[in-house]
Amino acid sequence: MSMFPKKNFFLVVDSLLPSKYLLKFRKFVFFEPFLGNDIATRGRLSHYGDEERKKFAKTLKIIRDETELLLEDIEAYHIFMAVKRTQKVPGDIAEVGVYKGGSAKIICSAKGEKHLHLFDTFEGLPKVEDIDMVWPFYEGKFAASYDRVRDYLKNDCNVFFYKGIFPGTSGPVKEKKFSLVNLDVDTYESTKQCLEFFYSRMSPGGILLSHDYMTAPGVKKAFDDFFSGKTEPVLETAGSQCLVVKM
Ligand SMILES: C[S@@+](CC[C@H](N)C(=O)[O-])C[C@H]1O[C@@H](n2cnc3c(N)ncnc32)[C@H](O)[C@@H]1O
Repeated sequence: MSMFPKKNFFLVVDSLLPSKYLLKFRKFVFFEPFLGNDIATRGRLSHYGDEERKKFAKTLKIIRDETELLLEDIEAYHIFMAVKRTQKVPGDIAEVGVYKGGSAKIICSAKGEKHLHLFDTFEGLPKVEDIDMVWPFYEGKFAASYDRVRDYLKNDCNVFFYKGIFPGTSGPVKEKKFSLVNLDVDTYESTKQCLEFFYSRMSPGGILLSHDYMTAPGVKKAFDDFFSGKTEPVLETAGSQCLVVKM
């Protein structure tokens, strides 16, 4: 039996706190005591006088004001940079785990004319197993309005939406190649399914990036298992993400 209280407890906590304070609350009350460190409360991006970083910081502030974004500043910057630097790699961009569209908006700010395929249930997490319960994850968590996200991204060009549980929704992109894939699905099974689908479709030099490698054991296990027999190293970032460059 899991040592963590489950769905009903977290539903109460979620409904009591305004969403803007939820992330901080979770980190202090749930995450920090279990891991005994304060890494997750940091993540400020130093700009070292660099104009591109300063500009990104402004964009990020606007996105945070417009929607709820579940990323540290440095994590958001990793996505931005990965999208920028893979412009020269052939293929489309995909994200699985869109929620309210914050990370997708970051991708849009860097992608140029590239096509972006966005996958989400928009009804929250599908099935959650015991390995995923270290954070307050439960089925249905992170439900978001499909219409609102579409509306939020309506002025960004070449953006395509696929509603439902991935990989059931992957049909339309089966023949595509990808230069950048951002995963933010929180659980073991979803991460495993995403890796199985996207790995063989990544162009050489393309980047597979995932949130929560350091904070969600299911995500870590899915990556470590999948890449254990493969050439590519899994690079842990200074935030909670990991990234893999396809060879
Ligand atoms: C933490 S949220 C994503 C946060 C978002 N990337 C951001 O930075 O604001 C996780 C999302 O993954 C979605 N999700 C998880 N597994 C999925 C699957 N197999 N298919 C589709 N969506 C999935 C959930 O619906 C949820 O919206």
